[in-house]
Amino acid sequence: MERYQKSRALLERARGSLTGGVSSPFRAKMTAPLYFQDARGPRLWDVDGNEYIDYTLSWGPLILGQRHPALVEAMRQAADRPHTYGAQHELEIEVAEKFQRAVPCAERVCFTSSGSEAVQLALRLARAATGRNLILRFEGHYHGWLDSVLISYRASLDQMGPLDHPHKVPGSKGQTPESLASVVVCDWNDLGAVERAFAEHPGQIAAVITEPVLCNSGSLMPRAGFLEGLRRVTAAHGALLIFDEVITGFRMALGGAQQYFGVTPDVATFGKAVAGGVTLSAIAGRRDVMELIMTGGVAFGGTFNGNPLSLAAANATLDELAKGDGAALRHANQMGLKLMEGVRCAARDCGIPVQVTGFGACFHIHFTELPALRNYRDTHQDNKPRLEQYLREALDEGLWLLPEGRIYVSAAHTEREVEETLGIIRRIFARLA
Ligand SMILES: Cc1ncc(COP(=O)(O)O)c(C=O)c1O
Repeated sequence: MERYQKSRALLERARGSLTGGVSSPFRAKMTAPLYFQDARGPRLWDVDGNEYIDYTLSWGPLILGQRHPALVEAMRQAADRPHTYGAQHELEIEVAEKFQRAVPCAERVCFTSSGSEAVQLALRLARAATGRNLILRFEGHYHGWLDSVLISYRASLDQMGPLDHPHKVPGSKGQTPESLASVVVCDWNDLGAVERAFAEHPGQIAAVITEPVLCNSGSLMPRAGFLEGLRRVTAAHGALLIFDEVITGFRMALGGAQQYFGVTPDVATFGKAVAGGVTLSAIAGRRDVMELIMTGGVAFGGTFNGNPLSLAAANATLDELAKGDGAALRHANQMGLKLMEGVRCAARDCGIPVQVTGFGACFHIHFTELPALRNYRDTHQDNKPRLEQYLREALDEGLWLLPEGRIYVSAAHTEREVEETLGIIRRIFARLA
């Protein structure tokens, strides 16, 4: 029987009713026509009964793996209590206090339903706090799909223009052209470029927003001193520094990238892992900035913000992650580092040029001849046909991977998954060589 027979039939059916988004032909087009029916811990089963080790973790949230018992129990209890009040309740405070204990910048916290919304709030707060309009953002960074930030994210080399003055490339048809006018685009990992942008737009830049690790375009690490430099330059120019920790938050370390690198932004956005796979995002930041919400005239809302079901999941997730002084994240990152090293060894043994970048619990395999990758433009040197062949073969061998080479590792992955995975990757690399 064909390995993806039932999945292919479902894909045909989906074409008759669904468009766009993750649970649809859009997703299927990216890797394979795959439909799932079950998942537990770090493993998934598709409708044809094929088993996979999961390195997508639903694009990041499943930091404890699927159906962690503590999360399941918290959700069971929450299901038996009121599902939403549209008003305050104690769990909001409890989860916000856990943020404060873990995250250096979290003097105040507020909850949203998606990372995209959290980013919009952060930008609005920055503009309100500074009375300025421009947001400086970097090439290749993803901050959600909304008009104001979906700029120069997946731009092609011929669209991007000169490195010292990149073009602003819209990310979607139908996007308001005015959104481009409120943004300055810079090369990432180059402090000189940021200093130049501030000099060219004196008194106009409200904030610099950055993924502290460029997870969305190759899991590239910041150069030594770059984040510190951003902190210094933004402070000197009276602009805010926003870390978009939607991926790094509750993954890189309990206190996010800001704790890992020892650089505290004014505001940070969180999402994905915060509720272990349940819908919740958040923003955290300086008290004077955050308190502009309502009392400072900054409007913000959302019907499901801070709903008890999501917060019960966050409460359980943050408790699990805090145990043993962050043991779960240490484990996830350790497993990831083993995988990274194993992939490098396999590539060396097979003579395949590869760079493995990232930080353990989120990393990236680049089939590239480059000796190192610094920015988004460098990722365009990746050998795409080789990546696609690797992804196809990995799927057939039981690895469920993201379509661009990124790998997420959870606290549920064990030495067994690591060994099994490296065995598969070694076999694939030997065939690719
Ligand atoms: C760094 C970053 N910021 C923001 C977002 C948007 O979050 P959401 O998909 O929850 O809207 C994402 C989503 O992948 C992200 O990776």
